[in-house]
Amino acid sequence: MILSGTGILAGVMGWPVSHSKSPRLHGYWLDLHKIDGAYVPLPVRPEAFPGCLRALAALGFRGVNLTVPHKVAALEICDTLDAAAQAIGAVNTIVFGEGRIEGRNTDAQGFIENLRQTAPEWRAKAGPAVVLGAGGAARAVVHALREAGAPDIRLANRTKDRAASLARDFAPGVSVVEWRNRAAALQDANLLVNTTSLGMAGQEPLDLALDALPASALVAETVYSPLAPSLLREARARGNRTVDGLGMLLHQARPGFAAWFGVTPEVTPALRAFVLGQA
Ligand code: ATR
Repeated sequence: MILSGTGILAGVMGWPVSHSKSPRLHGYWLDLHKIDGAYVPLPVRPEAFPGCLRALAALGFRGVNLTVPHKVAALEICDTLDAAAQAIGAVNTIVFGEGRIEGRNTDAQGFIENLRQTAPEWRAKAGPAVVLGAGGAARAVVHALREAGAPDIRLANRTKDRAASLARDFAPGVSVVEWRNRAAALQDANLLVNTTSLGMAGQEPLDLALDALPASALVAETVYSPLAPSLLREARARGNRTVDGLGMLLHQARPGFAAWFGVTPEVTPALRAFVLGQA
């Protein structure tokens, strides 16, 4: 790809950022849609973040994605925040508007659109959802499920106070379950989502008996390395539909790409294979 002098610029800011799949993902869509633009990795230390963000606006960037550790720090720097960024308490997408830094969060949208694409018959309103974890990913998932009309969200986290605080922020409709009682909370559930780091490469596996989970329930992960952690493998083996974390990553990228480059891109099997390095 050769960028012209008028090419559109965007990127991903993080520290570190070398592991990010976003440049490959956005690069695929730029090529597919023959857009004169580039999406670049931007390694930025936490202390340099505010200055770098403002400098990018001055340099003519259309916007950036944010990843660890900048997602929460951005709340203070943005001139406007959309409803999702306010509710989740983090920004993953920046759009440089008319002299304004606009902060958005597309993680919740990415989570729910991935579920809808992968399991179109699944309905949030059909029953309780069990969410494991209480970090940033859990906040995005709970926000998405509240917006989609999930009637009862059961939240279990190793550190109960974090779950209680999240439940308060999203009340009513979110109840806290003791971490040791997480298996029993699967009774009658319509959805199980793991947002903890358990099962991630290099971490302990998630220890959870699925016996109480209805066969009709959907089981989702927010991590994608590995693509099929033991939770998804066990769920598939007993007949549950599953949704992996890579789809959430791909779907959360769509609104940013649309805002910066002017085309709403699609998540396809070819994109998945490309991002996984298989094509
Ligand atoms: P993120 O923002 O990506 O969600 P995070 O804020 O670091 O990341 O959250 C990690 C989640 O994994 C937390 O819910 C954490 O539980 P605590 O709040 O008790 O720390 C959970 N987690 C990590 N290691 C765990 C372990 N060994 N057992 C149970 N939960 C664990």
